[in-house]
Amino acid sequence: MKSIVVYESWFANTRDVAEAVADELLEHGEVQLLSVDDPLQSLDGVDLLVVGAPTHAHGLSSSMTRKSALQQRGSDAEAGTGVRGWLDRLPPADGQRAAAFDTRFRKSIFLTGSAARGIAKRLERRGYELAAPPVSFFVLDTAGPLEDGEIESAREWAKRLVGIPILTLV
Ligand SMILES: Cc1cc2nc3c(=O)[nH]c(=O)nc-3n(C[C@H](O)[C@H](O)[C@H](O)COP(=O)(O)O)c2cc1C
Repeated sequence: MKSIVVYESWFANTRDVAEAVADELLEHGEVQLLSVDDPLQSLDGVDLLVVGAPTHAHGLSSSMTRKSALQQRGSDAEAGTGVRGWLDRLPPADGQRAAAFDTRFRKSIFLTGSAARGIAKRLERRGYELAAPPVSFFVLDTAGPLEDGEIESAREWAKRLVGIPILTLV
């Protein structure tokens, strides 16, 4: 099985989750771990695409929230296009399955919003079949850290993404 794990991350929490997911998927085949700032790779031969991002202002980051994250980090780096821009450039699915995750605060989703939901919606619009419902992993504060046990939860989630047979109609 060939997988790509793509992440946006400003304080390394979503990156840490993405790394744990990629590491688990490595048990089941080839994995490429990419940031949304890396050039978009070919999806030829890819079976599973996993996309993760931090929840910003109830959903996907915008140029304003990315600048705010950089400011909070005390960095003058480029704000980039985030996962939103990456998904805009994503080619339509050609049989690949996909999954979405985010990081956010552990409060009611009605209060926090969820980037994963927005990512999943966009993936489905592009024809990607979801291997699992969108999922959230929780941070204690804006800059992290992740709550205890979230890396293990991410590994468990990744295990559930594999082993589901891809049905091919003949
Ligand atoms: C500008 C900004 C807006 C945010 N808005 C939300 C929000 O609406 N809901 C939420 O749960 N967390 C929000 N957060 C917290 C982020 O989800 C948290 O910073 C993120 O999970 C950390 O992941 P990262 O280290 O990968 O950037 C916000 C953070 C920033 C910087």
